[in-house]
Order: sequence, then structure tokens, then C-alpha cells
Amino acid sequence: MNVLHLLYRAIRPLLFRLDPEEAHELVFGVLPLARVMATLARLRPHPSLACKVGPLTFAGPVGLAAGLDKNGVGIRTWEALGFGAIEVGTVTGLAQKGNPRPRLFRLKEQHALINRMGFNNDGAVALAANLRRLREGGHWPSVPVGANLGKSKLVENSEAVGDYINSLRALRDRADYFVVNVSSPNTTGLRELQEKEPLQRLLAAVVPEAGRTPVFLKLAPDLEDGPLAEAVNVAIDAGCAGIIATNTTLSRPGETGRAEQYGGLSGAPLAPLARQKIRVVLDASSGRVPVIGVGGIRTANDVRELLAMGCAATQLYTSLIYEGPGLVAQIHRELAR
Ligand SMILES: Cc1cc2nc3c(=O)[nH]c(=O)nc-3n(C[C@H](O)[C@H](O)[C@H](O)COP(=O)(O)O)c2cc1C
Repeated sequence: MNVLHLLYRAIRPLLFRLDPEEAHELVFGVLPLARVMATLARLRPHPSLACKVGPLTFAGPVGLAAGLDKNGVGIRTWEALGFGAIEVGTVTGLAQKGNPRPRLFRLKEQHALINRMGFNNDGAVALAANLRRLREGGHWPSVPVGANLGKSKLVENSEAVGDYINSLRALRDRADYFVVNVSSPNTTGLRELQEKEPLQRLLAAVVPEAGRTPVFLKLAPDLEDGPLAEAVNVAIDAGCAGIIATNTTLSRPGETGRAEQYGGLSGAPLAPLARQKIRVVLDASSGRVPVIGVGGIRTANDVRELLAMGCAATQLYTSLIYEGPGLVAQIHRELAR
């Protein structure tokens, strides 16, 4: 148990009295302070935990999942907290406000969240400026930073390729890897881009445009096994460097049935479904590309199990909200033992 863990335990009841998005904004206001504390607490993963994820080397097997830091404003803090890699975004070609509030809901008993944020973000150009500032200031982290790209709400699916390409061009050479996100449930029609032909068209344009920067594809847990395996094969044929599975689910497994109807569910109740879909993705990829496992990870054992299944690394988001900023370092420490 590290100092951030104890501190978070003390302030969590207060934070959880706030609306979830207000709590998020408050926390983002104190990120520099958190960075100083995390640096003093020395939370970086032990060098023995470094793992290869295709062409990338994660400093440890637990990375930050997309969605927490859409605009890449807290990268130095995530690094200090000990994440093995940091995924920022989703950003879209156009800056956009996202869906009306409330759009983020806690399911406290279930250790889960439901969100229908709808890609609220400042746009790919703003993210690129933040990443440039970081690099030119000599603060580029020692762990890989990925930029997760989605489709702007105002852009029709028929024009989606151009929108992703605009984001890629804005971010060229700014990130260590890109993620094509076609799996968020809160942008109408986005998940249709996971189907064979639209996905082939999209990746045939995106992968060459990314040049030497590896491109990962992030998939939804709500795809049936057949189409999921097909999407994996399309990604590999198109030259993707790996798969990230999974995004949030539109289903409401377990005790979450009475919860908020619209939006993607994440956290503990997603874990069994994510696990099952990760298995399908691993089987389909059969070792040809690395798979990053995401969905309801809370403990070192969860990470161990996904690595034992064959995942190259993992990511988490929701358990950070419930367990606090000391979680990643604690997991890494347990794994290093
Ligand atoms: C509030 C919130 C916003 C999210 N936004 C994004 C996003 O913009 N892009 C994305 O690819 N995934 C997004 N995700 C999904 C996470 O990256 C992750 O795939 C999912 O939450 C499952 O992991 P978890 O159970 O550890 O949270 C979001 C998740 C949450 C809870």
C-alpha cells in the first residue's frame, strides 16, 4: 500500500459525493500535485516488468486505457503513477463537446461505470500541440504514448476515412502508436466500421498514412465471435501492429440490469465478457500480432491471468476511479515479486 493509496482512501468518499464528471475535473486540477507526490513515492515499474508489445516496449504490463485523458494533458502524471504505457484520446478530426450531461454514471456497488460521453475532446490538432510541447520541453515520457483516434460526430460514415486521415496527419510523428477506435458505443454508426468492407477500406488508408508508427485496432465486446475474428483477420491483413480488446459494452451483465440504459459499461461486470472476447481475439490472431487485454482489470491476478492467456500487455481505466492512483504501482509491485 503506497501513500497515494492511503490518501485516496481518505478523500474518495468526498469525491464520490460529487457528480462523476465534476470529480473528474477536480482531479485534473490537481494532476501536477499528484505528479510530484507520485514521483516522490517512486511508483515506476521495476525494470524486470518491461514487456514487448510488437514493436513497442511497455515499461510494465499495465497501461492506461483510452478515455481518461482525451487531450493528453496529464501524460507526465500517468508516467509518474507507474503506467507501463499511456493511451490518450479518443480524439476526433473536429473538436467536439460530446453528449449532453449527465453522461457519466457510477455503479458503486458493482465497481463499474456507465458512460455516454460521445468523444468530448479538443480535436486532433490540439492533442498534437500538447504532444509537441511535451517533446520539445524535453518531457517526453520513457513509456510509449499512443493516440487513439475516432470519428467526428458531424462526419458521416461514408466520409469516415477522410476524418481519420485528418487526425493522423495532424498527429504525424507525434505519438509512439496509433489506435483506430471503431468500437465506442456512443457515436452513432461508429461500430458499423468494424464490419469487413468498411474496416478494410479504413485500414487500407490509415495504416500506410501512419508510416512507421504502429497502428492498433480497438474492438468492442459486443461483436459476435465470428465477426470479431473476421475483424482481427482484416486488421492483420491490413498491416495493423496489434489488437486492443475490449472497449465498453452496451450489454448489462450481472447486477447492472437496472442501471442507466444508454452508454457503455466498464469495470468489474465487464470482465467476464471481455475475457471471453479476448480469448476469441487471441485465437483468431494466433500469435501473429500482440493483443492488449482490457476490461474490468482490478488486481495483479487479473493481469496475470490475461498474460497467461497470451495477452502481451493490459490496460485499465475504471478500477483507477475505485481504487485510486496508487493502484497501478501496487499491481506492478505484486507482479514483480
Ligand atoms: C468514462 C470512460 C470514457 C471512455 N472513453 C473512451 C474513449 O474515448 N476511447 C476508447 O477507445 N475507449 C474509451 N473508454 C473505454 C476504456 O478505454 C476501456 O476500453 C473500457 O473502459 C474497459 O476497461 P476498464 O473496465 O478497465 O475501464 C472509456 C471508458 C470510460 C469508463
